[in-house]
Amino acid sequence: MKFFIDTANLAEIKEAAAYGFLDGVTTNPSLMAKEGVSEQDEHIKAICALTPGPVSAEVLATEKEAMIREGRHLASLAHNVAVKLPLTMDGLAATGALAADGIKVNLTLVFSPLQALLAAKAGAAFVSPFVGRLDDVGQDGMALVEEIVTIYGNYGMETEIIVASIRSPQHVLRSALLGADIATIPFKVIQQLAGHPLTDKGVAAFLADHAKVAKK
Ligand code: G3P
Repeated sequence: MKFFIDTANLAEIKEAAAYGFLDGVTTNPSLMAKEGVSEQDEHIKAICALTPGPVSAEVLATEKEAMIREGRHLASLAHNVAVKLPLTMDGLAATGALAADGIKVNLTLVFSPLQALLAAKAGAAFVSPFVGRLDDVGQDGMALVEEIVTIYGNYGMETEIIVASIRSPQHVLRSALLGADIATIPFKVIQQLAGHPLTDKGVAAFLADHAKVAKK
């Protein structure tokens, strides 16, 4: 299972990379805006220099030909750019053209299993179901991931599932149990993954026990 970080913040990416288990990065226009980035080219290059793994950069275009042009431009910025397109009819149509160029496409804003089936048939390298946003509207986001895993398994489809819109370590755990290929995780949740009160308590007890004999 691969771990991506879902952020456009360079300091967060550097810190996550230093932990030794960062396999890639996903961004979107909202995450770019949060960092005050309006022209994303230089920022994408900076992110790509921090990780050898795929870096998803999202197009702003909404029409097929414009998506293809913008996607080709983004892919030219660094060897590890994956072009993120919204799963619309135009996004699906643009996917084939970009994939034919050897460009990895990440189809995003996926909220149904049939959208994910279309993504695989269109030739997307990645599909991004948004689990947290489904939970937010009272649906079960992880049930969507389970359905996609089943469908892709039924047909041997090679599109990798990126579980996105992750809100908690539980989303990461359930992704792993379902065999999802990738979880793209916000920095705050990455930090929560390693923490356990019994680990902290155990370290404190070990140090206290050592201190007792060290004094003698
Ligand atoms: O990569 C985008 C996705 O993870 C969005 O997350 O928290 O805005 O629903 P969120």
